[in-house]
Amino acid sequence: MITKDPTFLKRQGANFLSLINDLKRNRKAAAQDLQVSLETIEKIIAGESDIPPGLIQRATEVWPVNRRDFMIMEDDCPEGVLVMRGEASEKSSRIFTRGGADYYEYRDTAMSKVAPFRPEWILELCTVEDNDPKNSSLRWNNGHFMHQFTMFVGPVNFYYIEENQKKVMVANTGDSMYITPFVPHTFATRQRQKGLILALTYGNKLLGDVQQEMSSLGGDIPGQFLLETRSRDAYFASLLQLQMAALSLSAEDLIVQTGLPADRVHRWIKGEAFPTPEEYGRLADRLNVNVYDLMPPDAFDPGVIVSYLSHSKPRRYFNCQIRELASIRYLPYSKALLLDVLEKAETFPFKVPLHQYCYNFGDVSVTLRWDWKGQTREVEVGPNDSVYVKPFVPHSFSPCAAKPASLLSLRIGGKGTGEPQRELSHIGKKNIQRIYQEYSLWYKEE
Ligand SMILES: [Fe+2]
Repeated sequence: MITKDPTFLKRQGANFLSLINDLKRNRKAAAQDLQVSLETIEKIIAGESDIPPGLIQRATEVWPVNRRDFMIMEDDCPEGVLVMRGEASEKSSRIFTRGGADYYEYRDTAMSKVAPFRPEWILELCTVEDNDPKNSSLRWNNGHFMHQFTMFVGPVNFYYIEENQKKVMVANTGDSMYITPFVPHTFATRQRQKGLILALTYGNKLLGDVQQEMSSLGGDIPGQFLLETRSRDAYFASLLQLQMAALSLSAEDLIVQTGLPADRVHRWIKGEAFPTPEEYGRLADRLNVNVYDLMPPDAFDPGVIVSYLSHSKPRRYFNCQIRELASIRYLPYSKALLLDVLEKAETFPFKVPLHQYCYNFGDVSVTLRWDWKGQTREVEVGPNDSVYVKPFVPHSFSPCAAKPASLLSLRIGGKGTGEPQRELSHIGKKNIQRIYQEYSLWYKEE
């Protein structure tokens, strides 16, 4: 069931005000441009009425804006937590065939409009008798745009293509993997009806705004955003060239103005050498950027990460035992944990700075308790139930029986972490509300 968002019109009004502020239109000028009454504009901004049909069309004709600029996200999780019951998951069941045979049964699990992931419960309907990645009963996909994290439940084989070779991971409960977008893959079970996966796909930062901007720039422009990943030197060269081109700064001027040796600078630009920390500082000073902006990744990640639970060292965190599952360096805000909830929690040990999805894959229910605006709320999360928890919501899990409960916890940064977080922090605390909910004209009208 989708909860209706009580703040929708208010937030739509704030978005509208922010939009006309950016276009340097006050309410009267906006009304004139859009050929509507001042009262119409005021009601939209106050959140008292929806945007009338035709107004957005008119706006896209007279202003350099897109229809989507007027559309806002809905909050279907107004109390911080959203639960999907196992029975509701079961009702969403869809069986898809591949190559004429039933191949996967899909079921939805907890998903929110505000969260970046699309977690699915997928039962493998193809049973194999061997672990041969060339098994003829396998049906491969072509890979997909979304990142995929998967935790295995039961005896599942995960097949993937790496360096043009078909490979297999022979997995069991708690093992996990991460695959980069567009890596072809498939799954099968080694025991009929016993192998399933919790597949969590997500678009990370590229989904939505970035995708839209790239698509509308068109032609060969999107490809030119790619940085050179052949080596760390080459990656650094791409970043340096980008900053120089952004300033239209020649290599000669860079050499003269930094006093750095000409041969060093030329080799950097060609991707044949790497600066020392001291040279890094001088480059960053001249370009007026942070050293961070010129840094390549520490290492280039493989396309597929496979992680066996037996290799993950358990550690105690308050009332839980935690084991870390598959992760990859280039997605620093994507974490997957297996939580064994051992005993009753006395406090709220978790306050996760990321969007969180949990699936109860064991046979013991847990009580999820959380703090929402100073009030404690709780819900029971039974076997096969799943939940979504908003970032920074203090919460705890307690088992409902005298034995431990088992949860998969997947945490993803969404759009706000990383670069936007740095930008947000620079703008400062005082203005945070005006960023996400504009409430005033940009100047005083008197
Ligand atoms: Fe997939």
